[in-house]
Amino acid sequence: MPKPILISGIQPTGRLHLGNYLGALRNFVELQNSGKYQCLFFVADLHSLTAADFDAAKKQEEILGVARAYLAAGVDPKKSSVFVQSHIAESSELAWVFNTLAPVGELERMTQYKDKSAGRESVNVGLLTYPLLMAADILLYDAAVVPVGEDQLQHLELTRTLARKFNNRFGDTFVEPQPLMTKTPRVMSLTDPSKKMSKSLPEGCLFLDDSPADVKKKIMRAVTDSDSKVTFDPVQKAGVSNLLLIYEALSGKSVASLEKKYAGKGYGQFKADLADLAVVALAPFRELKPKTSNLKAALAAGDRKAKKLASAKMKDAKKKLGLL
Ligand code: AMP
Ligand code: TRP
Repeated sequence: MPKPILISGIQPTGRLHLGNYLGALRNFVELQNSGKYQCLFFVADLHSLTAADFDAAKKQEEILGVARAYLAAGVDPKKSSVFVQSHIAESSELAWVFNTLAPVGELERMTQYKDKSAGRESVNVGLLTYPLLMAADILLYDAAVVPVGEDQLQHLELTRTLARKFNNRFGDTFVEPQPLMTKTPRVMSLTDPSKKMSKSLPEGCLFLDDSPADVKKKIMRAVTDSDSKVTFDPVQKAGVSNLLLIYEALSGKSVASLEKKYAGKGYGQFKADLADLAVVALAPFRELKPKTSNLKAALAAGDRKAKKLASAKMKDAKKKLGLL
């Protein structure tokens, strides 16, 4: 029995942050090392074009930056395939097919689309059809599982709906994928714990390549509350609860045991210890700099593997559609 296929992607839109790490990247590596899956990880460069103000002169470096982060986190090109989305033309081709199957209303209901288009006068169509390209990325490879953060669950549900719809109408072609989430699928902003940590709010991000001094400063200044008890209560104490979840994820110690450890101690020591943990956890991203030539060789091998799977699946889909 071949192992089930696992796929995920990250957009090259600037620096990666702790949310990307704890919600996605670290999980990718654990899943790879479990040996249970055939893993494919890609750089979602086409998705990143939907950020209307992107800088084309920086794009290549940003693409290599995500590939570098994969390797620094522990993705091993000998075990997993790492590739660039735009090198596989079949994603865009299949996304077009899904454009003809998905109702506009369903896309307009996507939370990410609503958030990104709210209050904007002009919104590019790509922002609306973004989940269709994502569906193509997944369904092209017969992926059984997709590790992502919570913000992508709705897109995954749409992917499943599209797979069913296509299969029902044109015959069995696509596998319905399952999402796989970490225990920290939604890391919150350090400066506003009511919002998720996101590149669009850079002041609340702990970036993976932040200097140790910046990591410490940001954690010591993270927004908490005035009662100084280290207890978990996501409603009344969103800031402290977010830090507790981060601490748990980085240390492997449960939230309950951390509450005990810091009972009666206030926030200072708790934050200082967490800062030390974060500096150690992020060290590989500052220190490991895989050579660009190695990176490019890994990407070329990943492209070949992805292309092989994608072209076979696209051919099948085209036959089912009567195009071949
Ligand atoms: P993106 O940078 O939007 O391409 O996201 C890459 C991955 O990181 C996706 O799986 C997201 O779900 C995940 N992610 C992004 N922000 C967060 C966050 N604040 N908490 C947890 N996961 C996140
Ligand atoms: N939309 C995802 C994000 O912003 C990135 C992505 C694109 C993706 N295609 C995908 C993730 C396919 C998983 C599977 O995080």
